[in-house]
Amino acid sequence: METTEQIKKTNAAEQKTLAPNMVRLTFLPSNESVEFEAGKLPYQEHGKQGSILDVAINSGIHLEHACGGNCACTTCHVVVKKGRELLNEVSEEEADRLDTAADLQLHSRLGCMAVIEKPGEVVVEIPSWNRNYVREGGGSTL
Ligand code: FES
Repeated sequence: METTEQIKKTNAAEQKTLAPNMVRLTFLPSNESVEFEAGKLPYQEHGKQGSILDVAINSGIHLEHACGGNCACTTCHVVVKKGRELLNEVSEEEADRLDTAADLQLHSRLGCMAVIEKPGEVVVEIPSWNRNYVREGGGSTL
């Protein structure tokens, strides 16, 4: 998958203090990080603009999204490990959908609904059941 020009993949050795107005989003357990200027990524038409799913698609990182980012499944489930305060509030629609998610945790979010609204560092973990789903050939075709 192509990576948008405005996004830069980094590894732990390259990670320094973030410049103002920059976002660093790290996906666990792969520990892949991407950096971009807040609010500057092109919209990839899946999930809310600027959502964790939108960033993943922009950066070529696979995050399952069986319903196409419409808050109608839970395959984009992530657990936010750092930077919850940089994200939008959980909407009622997202909360209702999350209630149906496997392995729901205190800081679970739907990647398609969780928008990074402020610059800073965000770390999310893709639950193992979701990774296994992809490994077993259940990936979406959207
Ligand atoms: S992609 Fe289906 S709820 Fe997020």
